[in-house]
Amino acid sequence: MDIDQIFKNNKQWVEKNLNLDPDYFQNLSKGQNPELLYIGCSDSRVTAEEIIGAKPGEAFIHRNIANMVPNTDLSAMSVIHYAVNELEVKHIVVCGHYYCGGVKAAMQSADMGILNPWLRNIRDVYRTHKQELNSIADEEERYNRLVELNVQEQCINIIKTSDVQKAYRKRGITVHGWVFDIHSGKLIDLKIDFAKVLEDIMEIYRLE
Ligand code: CO
Repeated sequence: MDIDQIFKNNKQWVEKNLNLDPDYFQNLSKGQNPELLYIGCSDSRVTAEEIIGAKPGEAFIHRNIANMVPNTDLSAMSVIHYAVNELEVKHIVVCGHYYCGGVKAAMQSADMGILNPWLRNIRDVYRTHKQELNSIADEEERYNRLVELNVQEQCINIIKTSDVQKAYRKRGITVHGWVFDIHSGKLIDLKIDFAKVLEDIMEIYRLE
């Protein structure tokens, strides 16, 4: 991507928005009130705002390799804290995607340097769901299922936080697990039944 082109694109974008509404940026500068926190992959093909049709101000976005929510990751935890307590978002979405390079890398026996501890979180997802995953003979199908289970486990990591537990009791907040299907462009709601998934284990993670 040409750097000069980026500034030309930006100029056009400013003009387009000002043509539609002369106060567009004036209004944007007043503040944000998004109802959605979206956590997705850094993958250049999974453009958060574009795939969900969010306009500026509508979604608080956090992206990293393989849409992870490690409970010790200061960046992800800060984003959740701010989104839940200050912005008071109503929904938190973890959106994975098929053919995720991070998930693929975690399925391989390779030394990835600094990525090792990051990808180990995905290896742990594999270990947790080893029985189901190993029963899938087709490698691509197994890979896709790991993408889905990784989304599920990252949603559970969100539910483990005190911020989300408190907000759930105080005002209700919904966690959603989605997958973006790069083949079709469609968003798939995994419709995870967290009450069922956490049935026997929520007592371990309850913080109040
Ligand atoms: Co990815």
